[in-house]
Amino acid sequence: MMKVSVTTLSLQDLDVDLLIIPVGQSLARARAAQIGGPIGEALSTALIDFEGKPNETLICYPPTGRARRVAVIGLGDAGNIQREVLRKAAAAGYRVAMKTKATTVALCLPDAGIDSEAAGQSLVEGYMLAAYEFERYKTQPDDQKSKTERLVLHASRDEKSARRGAERGRVESEATITARDLVNLSPHEKTPVMLGKMVERFGRKHGYEVSVWDKGDIEKEKMGGLLGVNRGSVEPPALIEMTWKPTKAGNTKPVVLVGKGIVFDTGGLSLKPTKDSMDHMKADMAGAAAVIGAMEAIARLDVPLYVIGLIPVTDNRPGQNAYVPGDVLQMHSGMTVEVLNTDAEGRLILADALSYAKLYRPEIVIDLATLTGAQVVALGSQVAAVMTREDSGARERLDAILKAAAISGDLVHPMPMHAHYAEALKSDVADIKNIGNREAGSITAAKFLEYFVDYPWVHIDMAGPSFLKKSSAYRPVGGTGYGVRLLTEFIRDYAYPKKR
Ligand code: BES
Ligand code: MN
Ligand code: ZN
Repeated sequence: MMKVSVTTLSLQDLDVDLLIIPVGQSLARARAAQIGGPIGEALSTALIDFEGKPNETLICYPPTGRARRVAVIGLGDAGNIQREVLRKAAAAGYRVAMKTKATTVALCLPDAGIDSEAAGQSLVEGYMLAAYEFERYKTQPDDQKSKTERLVLHASRDEKSARRGAERGRVESEATITARDLVNLSPHEKTPVMLGKMVERFGRKHGYEVSVWDKGDIEKEKMGGLLGVNRGSVEPPALIEMTWKPTKAGNTKPVVLVGKGIVFDTGGLSLKPTKDSMDHMKADMAGAAAVIGAMEAIARLDVPLYVIGLIPVTDNRPGQNAYVPGDVLQMHSGMTVEVLNTDAEGRLILADALSYAKLYRPEIVIDLATLTGAQVVALGSQVAAVMTREDSGARERLDAILKAAAISGDLVHPMPMHAHYAEALKSDVADIKNIGNREAGSITAAKFLEYFVDYPWVHIDMAGPSFLKKSSAYRPVGGTGYGVRLLTEFIRDYAYPKKR
């Protein structure tokens, strides 16, 4: 793991392979003058044609001084620097470090335009998340590549806030990386039982409690949805329950996070085609990974809030005993569901977890799921769909999620939840069926889940942003860890409502 620290030493004294200086538009030359010394001198000539547009990059080599190279990265509008701009600038800085094979890197906080805590957090996030690589299955190390061993954040003011931000950025990035690793892991290494064992280990390491239900426990609770989906599998299902209950918690009713844990989705008997569909369905547990990562961040940041994580886990396969179209399942809630497509499995396992969550008398439940292809069609791979039960607190809940999205960069967009959408789920034989028609697929999936909740509830369909086929700024190809920072920022805001 990369070492992260904060320093207030003079820039001239930073002994690093690469010094990265983010600067706002048209401020570059003023910044060079302000820096002075050999670095400032080298910069002032190099910067003649540098404008400071977002991610514009310039590398120069000061003839004397400690830093071997200096990279200036543009931030655009200097008066109001957004967190996401800093994350992207840090990611651009990381790419310079890669190209120049720098292993010790200093990264400067901008001297105005954003508070030091937010700046410290965002820079560390952008850099660490850009530097992520999943190498578990590479048998030959790539010696063309260099790794950043030490990242030093340079703050010329507000050292304490910068340090706090940097620490939070490091914890949230590492928790995001936990989620990415889980998504990228080969399916044969994350069967439900194996995933349960991994989370038990994470719980011991980070200080939250874990209890893993086995198939017998799930049968006793009559979770017909989870058991139905699991029928085609040779691997038994699991239900993972994580608890973070600090003594100083401000709430007695928990905040519950539910994550879809389909460790592989073949579609079942309604089999998926391989290309561009089944081929990345190891990522169908990205909602679960987001909850696991968020529990890690919340525990490590010692957030004073009672939080429960709940993850139903199974794969979805066409085995000899697999559930079939036409099967009617009796769910944990007692409701019956006619299965008309075995590929609409996520809502079946989530429904059981959501209905079980009623027992906690939760203050709010947020579920995250790679639920529908329709979400990807509607919003693409950068933005998740958010839906909420339209009760009295709906507006506030949506606002809180939108705020957490703006802070974290894990973006969401609201979808409507009018009652008429539920009509598509009418079944001829059971209470409801598990698919709608071709229209509004993400919404009808959410409407399905809504039958199983009786508390304030937010649903996030993250099918698109969970997994990328092309890298983008600080998000690599493969698992993105989407949702970890969204949930963490939402929960922090919930725990410290007036401080921010
Ligand atoms: N896991 C998929 C959804 C998905 C699609 C996730 C693309 C990530 C990328 C889900 O289980 C599924 O198969 N949904 C079906 C539902 C349909 C049968 C009603 C879908 O969206 O096609
Ligand atoms: Mn499916
Ligand atoms: Zn699925």
